[in-house]
Amino acid sequence: MAKNKTIHVCQACGYQTGKWLGRCPACGEWNTLVEEIIKPDKSGIGLSVSIVPQLLSDISSASQKRISTQIGEFDRVLGGGIVPGSLTLVGGDPGIGKSTLLLQASGSIASHHGPLLYVSGEESSTQIKLRASRLRLSADNLYVVNENSLEVIKQHISSLKPKTLVIDSIQTTYTQQLGSVPGSIAQVRQVTAELMQLSKTNTISTFIIGHVTKEGAIAGPRTMEHLVDTVLYLEGERYHSYRILRAAKNRFGPTSEIGVFEMKEAGLEEITNPSELFLSQRSSGISGSVVLASVEGTRPILVELQALVSYSTGGIPRRNATGIDINRLLLLMAVIENRLGVHIQDQEIYVNVAGGLRIYEPAADLGILLALISGFRRKPINPDLVVMGEVGLGGEIRGATQIEARIKEASQLGFSQCMIPQCNLDKLSLKLKLDIIGVKSAAEAIDAALG
Ligand code: TYD
Ligand code: MG
Repeated sequence: MAKNKTIHVCQACGYQTGKWLGRCPACGEWNTLVEEIIKPDKSGIGLSVSIVPQLLSDISSASQKRISTQIGEFDRVLGGGIVPGSLTLVGGDPGIGKSTLLLQASGSIASHHGPLLYVSGEESSTQIKLRASRLRLSADNLYVVNENSLEVIKQHISSLKPKTLVIDSIQTTYTQQLGSVPGSIAQVRQVTAELMQLSKTNTISTFIIGHVTKEGAIAGPRTMEHLVDTVLYLEGERYHSYRILRAAKNRFGPTSEIGVFEMKEAGLEEITNPSELFLSQRSSGISGSVVLASVEGTRPILVELQALVSYSTGGIPRRNATGIDINRLLLLMAVIENRLGVHIQDQEIYVNVAGGLRIYEPAADLGILLALISGFRRKPINPDLVVMGEVGLGGEIRGATQIEARIKEASQLGFSQCMIPQCNLDKLSLKLKLDIIGVKSAAEAIDAALG
């Protein structure tokens, strides 16, 4: 195939040059020149308009009926299933389970909604078959091919006319129009843009798998994120079996929902009650451990937070946070030091959310604060207590959202006590066999939890 004429464009200032340069001569930035295809100049052509604007009320929404992946947790993160013709990027570390998740979904999507083409640039058809047998997939309407070239993939699409397309992965797919190597920013951008056009014009729901690089960027500094409709990340600790699917961007739904899975011998299994899983290995009677109720999207999840506080033997004391924001930890330590007069700044502090979940909502504050004090005093907190609430800079406890959902979850899992912000308690009209403690300040909370 004849190569299109290409040009290298500086992504910082727009400078154009025929050949690649390490440093832009115009703005002086390094590594900003990216190869692009020269588009034919259309300025001389009279604009022929074939599509006219439509009245919003005249546009049919029938085609927007969502397609279910038959995997509840996947549908939830997508915002209730796949929007036909949408382009979704599934990112994550190599080996985390992206191909597994998509092959599993492909099996069920294909058997319910017609032909699906799974293009793998990483595994041969035989390897995919082996994996599919292990996952015990239904093979109805599921087509697989090992291919790297976008031009060939397009031919397969026009002959097979699939309703759904999976590209595994963006790093191995390239277009012959560009001279850049597969996986380069230029290739990733061009291939994504063409797949976008393909999926919109033919209403093919498309999933693109992308490996996240060490720096946390998908295939070149997040160049794809703004191109696609939805960005999902599959996360998890490599040596833990839990996997969390999270939406980072979604044109068709909320980004707060998470899907929880467990990696087993026969693929990813849905976890419909994550609280049970995250609390399953908890041992009672340990200081620094507290159960907090967090809300992810519309679903409350109970997790165990652990804090280890030990005297520093010299130098700058270490602070380490896994699963919570380190800045939040530092802020709460400052509140403890200044508002409660507890001297913990010279202590080494390690905080960990058990099970590998990450919690960023402010209602986790009270749990973190109590775990720190409990760890510092070497005094365990009542294992039947669940806490929730935001801590202000003055040491006051501020209200949390969806308080009833959190309390209900605690009650369902057999906890007997909840500590909630007083302002939430004042408005609460929940009748449950549960002891509810309202607190106004961090000092009050510590008195109630640790005496
Ligand atoms: P994979 O989906 O290939 O990861 P990615 O596409 O994100 O690179 O998953 C690879 C890991 O998952 C591998 O270490 C083995 C594990 N795995 C299971 O534990 N059970 C299974 O059924 C499958 C298919 C994979
Ligand atoms: Mg893979």
